[in-house]
Amino acid sequence: MNILVIGSGGREHALAWKLSQSPRVEKLVCAPGNPGTMEIAENANVSSDDLPGLLSLALEKAIDLTVVGPEGPLAAGIVDLFESKGLRIFGPNQRAAVLEGSKVFAKEFMARHQIPTGDFRVAETLEQALSFLESGIFPYPLVVKADGLAAGKGAVICSDREHAEATIRDMMEKKVFGEAGNRVLVEEFLRGKEMSFIVISDGIHAVPLVTTLDHKTAYDGGKGPNTGGMGAISPSPHTSSALFDEVMRTIVHTTITCMLEEGRKIKGVLYVGLMLTDAGPRVLEYNCRFGDPETQPQMMRLESDLVDILTAGIDEKLDTIDVKWSSDTSGCVVLASGGYPLRYDRGFPIEGLEDAAGIPGIAVFHAGTSYQDGKILTNGGRVLNVCAAGKNLTETMTKIYETIPRISFKDMFYRTDIGKKREDR
Ligand code: AMP
Ligand code: GLY
Repeated sequence: MNILVIGSGGREHALAWKLSQSPRVEKLVCAPGNPGTMEIAENANVSSDDLPGLLSLALEKAIDLTVVGPEGPLAAGIVDLFESKGLRIFGPNQRAAVLEGSKVFAKEFMARHQIPTGDFRVAETLEQALSFLESGIFPYPLVVKADGLAAGKGAVICSDREHAEATIRDMMEKKVFGEAGNRVLVEEFLRGKEMSFIVISDGIHAVPLVTTLDHKTAYDGGKGPNTGGMGAISPSPHTSSALFDEVMRTIVHTTITCMLEEGRKIKGVLYVGLMLTDAGPRVLEYNCRFGDPETQPQMMRLESDLVDILTAGIDEKLDTIDVKWSSDTSGCVVLASGGYPLRYDRGFPIEGLEDAAGIPGIAVFHAGTSYQDGKILTNGGRVLNVCAAGKNLTETMTKIYETIPRISFKDMFYRTDIGKKREDR
């Protein structure tokens, strides 16, 4: 089979790495890919937002199966476009991808179907949003969210009235996220531990991926601004089989079934961001794509052929497959550019990559890197993902943290406590 992976991050490198091990794969193409995927696949210089360009690429390369990494092309309708041309593609169509593309839709959907989530109000206008603050309906901190896609920056935890009003004005008046801020949510702040619960859905059945714990804040000990994720481990230490069953029953199956009833069949990934509160699990958000960095430790543990899983997802046959995972504990630590997630510089040479990637049991997935004149340079906030799998968490994290000092680039930073403290965010 000829397979196309869309995207250029660590998630896509990990997916391509796993796909490259499948005996079913003849040709693997990544668009646009990164210098890491270049070693295992053919990179095509087509951006993940260029839907017509991706369609031409898929036709030209006789692609049999396309896997979409980021949410942007899904929300823009890439699945509808590819399917209209008879191409097989793994992901939700535009009607279903709205579950991630509109946070207002997601919240109202959960309210309609009694799916456990925090209390919220929808503001259509600036005046309405400010009136929610005025009414004191939610104590501080509260959460203000832009309705649309905002590159993971659209949720702001506001400590006081001043902060909340400034955030609302940024979104609705200054349009810092463009149209994504036409409507905003004001939400109750939920306390507890976060968990990413990720399943593959064929619209009817769901197959859970192994659990993961993401570490969202930029610095050690849950400090600093929220990022896309600075590292992850699998399994999550916060999951019990009772909790797992409860989430599958009350949240995952209800979501898939109710979306189907609403004519929005969820095919592809359903990623449920949960807060485990004292009153039980509550949904923070839905995504319709694989997690980043969660995918990296998940792929390190996947023993089954990923092609079989994706194909069963497209063919609505997930009930017929048995997905096998190793019992290892896997981990991923993100090496980031100084200043991330705010302002950072790019273009610094990366040293020691080959040395690190050559260590047995270590996988280094690229994210924000570029290739120029035979050198690998930094080209983003999250630059590299150093991953491993081992018998237990200590062994795995020791292996990763012993490898990291071999890699260096100017202003490199990373969290030193991934998987080390159960409380950490
Ligand atoms: P979201 O984009 O909705 O996942 O939000 C990004 C992050 O903000 C989440 O991973 C949480 O850490 C935090 N967050 C979002 N909503 C809430 C909430 N209602 N209560 C507490 N934290 C939240
Ligand atoms: N790591 C968070 C996400 O993929 O949304």
